[in-house]
Amino acid sequence: TEDADKSLDDELRQLVQTLPKEQGWRVSNLYLYQGFWCTAQFLKPVASFRKHFRAFDSDVIVATFPKSGTTWLKALAFSTLHRNQFAKDENPLLNFTPHQLVRFLEHDLYLNNPCPDLETICVYKTRLFATHVPYACLPASIKDSNCKIVYLCRNPMDVFVSLWLFTDKIGEENQEPLSLDKVFDKFCRGICIHGPFFDQVLGYWKASRENPDKILFLKYEDLKEDISCQLKHLAMFLGVPFTEEEEKQGVVEEIAKICSFDKLQELEVNRKGLFVSGVPNENFFRKGKVGDWSNYLTSAMVERLEKLIQWKLDNSGLTF
Ligand code: A3P
Repeated sequence: TEDADKSLDDELRQLVQTLPKEQGWRVSNLYLYQGFWCTAQFLKPVASFRKHFRAFDSDVIVATFPKSGTTWLKALAFSTLHRNQFAKDENPLLNFTPHQLVRFLEHDLYLNNPCPDLETICVYKTRLFATHVPYACLPASIKDSNCKIVYLCRNPMDVFVSLWLFTDKIGEENQEPLSLDKVFDKFCRGICIHGPFFDQVLGYWKASRENPDKILFLKYEDLKEDISCQLKHLAMFLGVPFTEEEEKQGVVEEIAKICSFDKLQELEVNRKGLFVSGVPNENFFRKGKVGDWSNYLTSAMVERLEKLIQWKLDNSGLTF
């Protein structure tokens, strides 16, 4: 593996010279790699994940564009899938962050290790991972196996505002605040971490329509509107439907409650400590509302993004 690792390093060092490059938001440069924009730091983790990850038929992967509600989906999928592996009032979410319980592949497990020992790392019966990479870039074994993917999308206006504020917050104090105009223009041109936004969403959308038993496509706004109904749908898709008895006992509502924004945000574990990248855990919880974009975007911005949405989603069957 060491030799393979070194040859991957050499390959990527050469590759990076040839990739399209753009100034990032806070980060210095973004590179267009495998159809999406990422920092140089992530080329290797993504490459290692693609090269070495071997999916099991029983695996579950949650996939999202950053700021679409990943933290929420991780908590929901974890609590639903593993609910029979811990006592009712001992949900591990009480002591661990959703990101510790459902680890990112490229942003965590493969970040500093080309071949993480997933056997030891995964302690629950079904392996549950997360990713932000586009469908087209997933390793073949994920696509070819019977493993399941749950994708969560969110209205691009809210995604943009959430990403802008998140990125602004994690900037160093002596840096100038991120100009809304500038980053909005970049977002519309697809230039942001893991962008273009529409390419990713449409990639998973099309794949889910072609293969609905393999890929479940959820919307943040639908979860907000009727979490119980969406949770039942999720459990059914994952092959662990809630029994009548569980429904009577209020298990669905309990999961919804412990995963809710208010509950997760108030837990000590989510209020302190740092995520893998060094970002404070508390930054993953801001408002958790639908439509907060209206407090930030100008009417010209809204008009531009609305037109883009219309153009990009035209004939796709997907609406926001
Ligand atoms: P806002 O910035 O709009 O508040 P991600 O988890 O993909 O990084 O997304 C973060 C966004 O999801 C933030 O949105 C955050 O507040 C929101 N969020 C986090 N936990 C949530 C929860 N349990 N329910 C609803 N929204 C949540």
